[in-house]
Amino acid sequence: MSWRATILTLFPEMFPGPLDVSLAGRALRDGKWRCDAMDIRGFATDRHRTVDDTPFGGGAGMVMRPDVADAAIAGAMPEGDARPLVYLTPRGRLLDQAMVRDFASGPGLVLLCGRYEGVDQRVIEARGMREVSLGDYVLSGGEIAALALLDACVRLLPGVMGAAESAVEESHSAGLLEYPHYTRPAEWQGRAVPPVLLSGHHAEVARWRRAQSEAATRERRPDLWNRMQVVGSRATA
Ligand code: ADE
Repeated sequence: MSWRATILTLFPEMFPGPLDVSLAGRALRDGKWRCDAMDIRGFATDRHRTVDDTPFGGGAGMVMRPDVADAAIAGAMPEGDARPLVYLTPRGRLLDQAMVRDFASGPGLVLLCGRYEGVDQRVIEARGMREVSLGDYVLSGGEIAALALLDACVRLLPGVMGAAESAVEESHSAGLLEYPHYTRPAEWQGRAVPPVLLSGHHAEVARWRRAQSEAATRERRPDLWNRMQVVGSRATA
């Protein structure tokens, strides 16, 4: 049984999209995961295949109807389907690598992609959806967020990534940003590679990389850095 993603969307042609190439694409062809996109409009019941309506209370935009969203979810998840149901929305909890690891280690995901202003709150609650955001900016729909979430999960599936260690050392796995990388030529446009990387001293290379990771995290992501300090002080207390 492979890891299975079902995506509920008004634009099923967007899937697997970019996930059909490279690492994820090969894994898809190898049967290491499945990607099934379902058209929400197929669950509309009226002549015009209406999926949205104006918001109660007034305001701009349209809201996805709860009955249509619920029928689509019922169509995607048979009774007993243990996969988490995730609604991609800028109102959601920020996606992080811990969440990705958790999703990747399960049976798969059912992803609801909203367009318009969003989905009626009642179906979010009735279905116990996990609301997840990709970041503090607004996309025109959940589809690109769903693709990003799936990419992050699929690369962690067993046998998908090449070298096992590349999953461990990378940015965010240890709560730090990754150190910078260099390759040949050793000098390019007058810029030399940091000499320690050419020294052959593995311990010094490791020390330098750790220092670079810490400096980048402190400077660029004080939020991550401060969390690290708190977690670290708890561990040594
Ligand atoms: N849909 C629109 N914007 C989004 C975001 N930032 N994250 C997840 N889903 C979204």
